[in-house]
Amino acid sequence: MKRLLAIVTLLSIGFGASCTAQPSAAYLAKRDAFVVGLMKKMTLDEKLGQLNLVVGGEATTGSSVSTDVETKIKAGKIGGIFSISTPSRIRKTQELAVNQSRLKIPMIFGMDVIHGYKTLFPIPLGISSSWDMGLIEKMARISAIEASADGICWTFSPMVDIARDPRWGRIAEGSGEDPYLGSQIARAMVKGYQGKSYAETNTIMACVKHFALYGAAEAGRDYHTTDMSKVRMYNEYLPPYKAALDAGAGSIMASFNDIDGIPATANNWLLTDLLRRQWKFKGMVVSDYTGITEMVNHGLGDVQTVAAKALMAGNDMDMVSESFVNTLGKSLKEQKVTQAQIDLACRRVLEMKYDLGLFTDPFRFCDENRAKTEIFTAEHRAEARKAAGKSFVLLKNDKQTLPLAKNGTIALIGPLADNKENMAGTWSVSGDFTKCVSVEEGIKNVAGNVTILKARGANIYSDARLDANVSIFGKPTNRDPRSDADMIAEAVATAQKADVIVAALGEAAEMTGEASSRSDISIPENQRDLLKALVKTGKPVVLVLFTGRPLALPWENENLPAILNVWFGGTEAGNAIADVLFGDVNPSGKLSATFPRNVGQIPIYYSHKNTGRPYGGNGTDFQKFQSNYLDVPNSPLYPFGYGLSYTSFEYSELTLSKKTLAMAVPKDVVNVSVTVKNTGNFDGEEVVQLYIRDKVRSITPPVKELKGFQKIMLKKGESKTVSFALSVEDLKFYNSALNFVAEPGEFVVFVGTNSQNVKEAMFTLNK
Ligand code: BGC
Repeated sequence: MKRLLAIVTLLSIGFGASCTAQPSAAYLAKRDAFVVGLMKKMTLDEKLGQLNLVVGGEATTGSSVSTDVETKIKAGKIGGIFSISTPSRIRKTQELAVNQSRLKIPMIFGMDVIHGYKTLFPIPLGISSSWDMGLIEKMARISAIEASADGICWTFSPMVDIARDPRWGRIAEGSGEDPYLGSQIARAMVKGYQGKSYAETNTIMACVKHFALYGAAEAGRDYHTTDMSKVRMYNEYLPPYKAALDAGAGSIMASFNDIDGIPATANNWLLTDLLRRQWKFKGMVVSDYTGITEMVNHGLGDVQTVAAKALMAGNDMDMVSESFVNTLGKSLKEQKVTQAQIDLACRRVLEMKYDLGLFTDPFRFCDENRAKTEIFTAEHRAEARKAAGKSFVLLKNDKQTLPLAKNGTIALIGPLADNKENMAGTWSVSGDFTKCVSVEEGIKNVAGNVTILKARGANIYSDARLDANVSIFGKPTNRDPRSDADMIAEAVATAQKADVIVAALGEAAEMTGEASSRSDISIPENQRDLLKALVKTGKPVVLVLFTGRPLALPWENENLPAILNVWFGGTEAGNAIADVLFGDVNPSGKLSATFPRNVGQIPIYYSHKNTGRPYGGNGTDFQKFQSNYLDVPNSPLYPFGYGLSYTSFEYSELTLSKKTLAMAVPKDVVNVSVTVKNTGNFDGEEVVQLYIRDKVRSITPPVKELKGFQKIMLKKGESKTVSFALSVEDLKFYNSALNFVAEPGEFVVFVGTNSQNVKEAMFTLNK
């Protein structure tokens, strides 16, 4: 046994493939020699063992959990484990594999490190609203440093599913509705996790998920069917997955949903034709949690059949269902799968382990000292605070209600005012929620002279059953037994003694995330009743809105002077909220997903098509035989890209460097420039957004598509000219034949502060 490890070490010297560039031929040859050599020694059962990914027990997201893990590791029946942590625990578990299994093959250790590890950052939908790629990369880098210091080498992130249905709870885990913004973020996250090279022990492998289209679940109900045209897939839903893979992501997760009637997990077109043949992906494919055996429920056959289908379609690893390890041997005997298919999957798992350097040192992520010094550091928390502040979106601010003065009396009201555990948001499995900063603590830290008067005001839900549904995973909502009326009366009495009311309301953390869909996306009624009573006091009401999804807020928008959307900000949420409330930080977040007026408008997104009967009214009147509703305007409440600042920005008209772009001229560009001036009383950041519209093309064009953005800092009174270089590449789309083409003709270019408020100009694309 010792000899094998020695051989392993010798052959694998030079591990540490570059995570971003294509590995060198020499590296690949060495890896190949090693993996082929190892596979020659492996029995069928040992090969199947490598395909088996089990859950360690710190977090489970399905009804099944893995059993007899220790015995199976020793028998070589497990290739990897997720959801266990700490160097000592991982070392002990790894020792079982490398000391007690026949071939001593190390295991990989995964975890859902989604928006931070111990230092928690804002939920992904929140951080995407920063439109700050440097910041997002930094979040992923810090996540990787902390996770790897705690023994983990693989994260199930980034989640890049485009989502246009806020009923779907997992919209919280992604970057919103837009493929361009989503692709930039996907890239930044992969770069952050994987760093420059796996040779560094503080890099972890990314796993892009959920491939594919998971965000398009019908009716916003989790795990539900998806069905869409290929043209839509290629243009609108696939780009972020592709961007993440192009950035070097080492693995990808198949999604639960079906596509064209075949679940992604068994979808040969998706996992082989598209992923391997068209996109040339060389890394590892893992199923989602029991995604393979769930295909029995989908109606694709018994466990043996669906496992064979999953392997043949292109899955390499089976997460939790153990159907590969339990049935593929039989399927091989019965010639339902081939040895070559099993070998290919095994090979990809071994290559991944080789790339991560585990054959050279299976314990390279087990450094107690790093665990003590690199996790939850003051520096990481400072970054998390900064990130949270930049993720908040100021939805309304009449008469400069915000920022607040750092003196006087504040009535701090609401179930989320002094709650620590809900600050982290969904999918924060590794965090210690009791270490999160509450809003009350934040206000005390930032504005010590302010007098705070507190009242509960409301529970999250009036209905105790609904409250219990979301008071889970260590995130209690601390239900108050009093009646709604009693709590409101107390809150009103408290508010009357204050200068201003800060109402910390909205969703509890677990009202979004996996299997947390809602059919009503408003603030629960009892909370709105509280707001109504608070408004009646005549005191200014600032709504500090917690949410993991776009909410329908027509009443709030109509009746409250100030709304600050703070998502779920993570460990430092309370401090960051206070930073913004009291003006130490000027909000600069912009929505990455449209906020509808009501559920009936869903799906609603800015890049919709024009239709043959576009609405041409004044925005509120009804127009018969045009594409509109009888009872609600077409427009959203808050559009994509929207977010206010304490200051104001003025945009000049656009200047184009020329009026034509030529496909025949290599690298031809048209420069679009705009001058933005800070005309208000605060220094502030602005996200300058560029959209295009292809006026005529062979398939119907969206009315607008984001093609560029820049986040700039402007001191008060300062102006800056921002330029975007538009090339032919930016004008391309997938046509009916799924070819990526640009078509000559006129284009409108729009630049502005959000997807609706823009300046425009025209140019022509020539052959
Ligand atoms: C989720 C994945 C997650 C996996 C492992 C599944 O239920 O869909 O996003 O990575 O569990 O925890």
